[in-house]
Amino acid sequence: MGKILVTGGTGFIGSHTAVELINAGYEVLLVDDFSNSNPKILTQLETITGQNPDFTELDLCDEQKVTDFVAAHPDITGVIHFAAFKAVGESVNFPLKYYRNNFYSLINVITAFNSNVNLVFSSSCTVYGQPDQLPVTEDAAVKVAESPYGNTKQIAEEILRDTCAVSPDLKVISLRYFNPVGAHNSALIGELPIGVPQNLVPFITQSAIGKRGPITVFGNDYNTPDGSAVRDYIHVVDLGKAHVAAIQRLESAKAEGNYEVFNLGTGKGSSVLEIIQAFESSTGEKLDYKIGPRREGDVEQVWGDVTKSAEGLGWKAELDVNEMMLSAWNWEKYLKDNPF
Ligand SMILES: NC(=O)c1ccc[n+]([C@@H]2O[C@H](COP(=O)([O-])OP(=O)(O)OC[C@H]3O[C@@H](n4cnc5c(N)ncnc54)[C@H](O)[C@@H]3O)[C@@H](O)[C@H]2O)c1
Repeated sequence: MGKILVTGGTGFIGSHTAVELINAGYEVLLVDDFSNSNPKILTQLETITGQNPDFTELDLCDEQKVTDFVAAHPDITGVIHFAAFKAVGESVNFPLKYYRNNFYSLINVITAFNSNVNLVFSSSCTVYGQPDQLPVTEDAAVKVAESPYGNTKQIAEEILRDTCAVSPDLKVISLRYFNPVGAHNSALIGELPIGVPQNLVPFITQSAIGKRGPITVFGNDYNTPDGSAVRDYIHVVDLGKAHVAAIQRLESAKAEGNYEVFNLGTGKGSSVLEIIQAFESSTGEKLDYKIGPRREGDVEQVWGDVTKSAEGLGWKAELDVNEMMLSAWNWEKYLKDNPF
């Protein structure tokens, strides 16, 4: 089995993917600058996997250090590039911070490998905006980005596509995630939002544990079955497994061309009110919530067509919203007793 460089390896999705790579028999090399994660995740990974993952603290915006790092590890067989800033609201206030970090890190990594590597890139369903048709397929039009963060994902996909067009030794899969939630079933790793969570599920768990006030449901007058906004939530453990499948596809040379895009979702939409209900029924905890106005920039409803990922990656999400809510809750309770 190969050796996979996981950038952003101590982050939410990176840490869960590291576990799945190790479970699948890969060696992992994790890199992170801890700008949005905690060194304690490394101990947690060791407890989960029984292995002490190889880790290097590195800011991927430092071109020379990235070049030196890659030169010192000629046995890397693939890269999963998670490292990026991801807070939509912050990106509106600090666009250059986002453009600088999300582009420099990506460009430095590709350059250090001399455009000769298998690379999996973290993209997002935000590229679709409010799609004209649901479920949304990979062929759907990319809509004008709602935020600098969303724009970094669209442009990064273009950077990769254009570079692949002239670099036959660069093989890339961009994975468009829908809404990653949940935590590892050990409850030792999970999402660590800084400040007030902008996403529903971490807000729910923090509200339930008493760290936040009541939950606001942003709008109940959308054109959806219960009026609240609908998203395709995906368990982060399923997401981790999909990255292993993407690496395996790149290794197997099954890919069509050297640049491909896949949706990663469950193919099923859940409304905000359904998620609240799923949390209450799976955990037995009662939530305090109120209905508020719509939030600017939110799309009404989106869920993914996952036919292409089922066929091309041989992967399908297995865990349902109840498992997502229960694992997220167990992680929140763990954090209360073991603060990071
Ligand atoms: N979580 C989501 O809802 C979601 C949805 C779609 C796409 N994504 C994308 O998936 C990727 C991973 O997301 P996540 O939720 O795990 O985020 P995260 O913030 O938990 O993880 C990203 C990691 O990258 C690190 N990092 C950032 N800039 C770096 C740099 N210059 N050098 C080294 N390390 C750096 C951070 O410290 C962090 O540990 C990101 O690219 C994100 O944009 C996330």
